Amino acid sequence: MTKLAILEYPDPRLRKTAAPIQKVDDAVRQLADSMLETMYAANGVGLAATQVDVHKRLLVLDISEERNQPLVLINPEILKAEGLAPAEEGCLSLPGIYDKLSRATHIRVRALGRDGQPFEMDAEGLLAVCIQHEMDHLEGKLFVDYLSELKRQLIRRRLEKERKQRSTPSETRASAPAL
Ligand code: NI
Repeated sequence: MTKLAILEYPDPRLRKTAAPIQKVDDAVRQLADSMLETMYAANGVGLAATQVDVHKRLLVLDISEERNQPLVLINPEILKAEGLAPAEEGCLSLPGIYDKLSRATHIRVRALGRDGQPFEMDAEGLLAVCIQHEMDHLEGKLFVDYLSELKRQLIRRRLEKERKQRSTPSETRASAPAL
């Protein structure tokens, strides 16, 4: 396993569309494991391959408090989405930025697991939000795209400023999950 570098907004590589994975082989499993390691090290609850500059349809998640329930979704598809509720979101590609947006509250997802076997699962609450957020990454979409252009400009400026000052760690508000 290797800790991977996470791309940060507004890196244009975050805008690429990910391609389906044709075969779940050892290389894919290794990527999934490295992504999990990267996500845990960054205290995130989800990470899409796009965020580590691999443009394949693979995402990893763990919403458990104990950080011991890793989930790997390969070629995920949303079969059903119901309800709509606002919740605060963050993103490992936008460190320290959080905002409220609306997502479906209940979804049914089909994907391949780490073993290459297809499965379906129902998700609600944080897990549902997280899966929708990560699946957006695979389409080159970020949660700030749901906000106003003015808000995005402010966020871009803030991140730029913080990147320049990175030697002095900025105080971040960890009130919402980083996805
Ligand atoms: Ni994200």
